[in-house]
Amino acid sequence: MGEVVKGNNVLMIGFMGSGKTSVGRELARMLGFRFVDTDEEVIRAAGGREVSQIFEEEGEAAFREREARILQMLAGEKNLVISTGGGLPVRDENRRLMETMGLVVWLDATREAILHRVAGNQNRPLLRGDNVEEEVSRMLTERRPIYEALAELRIETDGLSVGDVAYGVAESVRVHRAGNPEG
Ligand code: S3P
Repeated sequence: MGEVVKGNNVLMIGFMGSGKTSVGRELARMLGFRFVDTDEEVIRAAGGREVSQIFEEEGEAAFREREARILQMLAGEKNLVISTGGGLPVRDENRRLMETMGLVVWLDATREAILHRVAGNQNRPLLRGDNVEEEVSRMLTERRPIYEALAELRIETDGLSVGDVAYGVAESVRVHRAGNPEG
């Protein structure tokens, strides 16, 4: 078997409301890369149905299958900034694939910032229950170690603008590339 060359994509991971989509879009502009958001691709592949509608009609497991398929389809591509749904790295096989696709960047945010950003948003089916605060705490406890183990780069986003975070990631990507011309 030949040597596996890692992709040059940048993959944004992190909890819902951590800014992956807005930062990813800005970062793609800065790097001259194409921006892809896995939730948007799932929606497109599901005929334009929103994430919450897919959850209601098909259940969470079917949504997870759909997002894993989108990741697999993107795996051969290059020059992409990919913003991933907050639950995507929970699956082992997704993590293994992401590691081959490029640099994984974790946008970390405090529980308070996350709660503030997701407040009132009806399009996240996992945060629609009566006790959103408890649910966010529980999921953060479960997911933070997963994000941490997967990411090569962690950015604390609290108090920073989208432009600041994107600029910070872009600079880190350049430094990372300088040391790893293929990565
Ligand atoms: C989810 C995150 C959402 C979306 C779905 C499930 C999760 O994406 O994929 O609602 O399990 O954390 P964002 O992280 O872009 O909000």
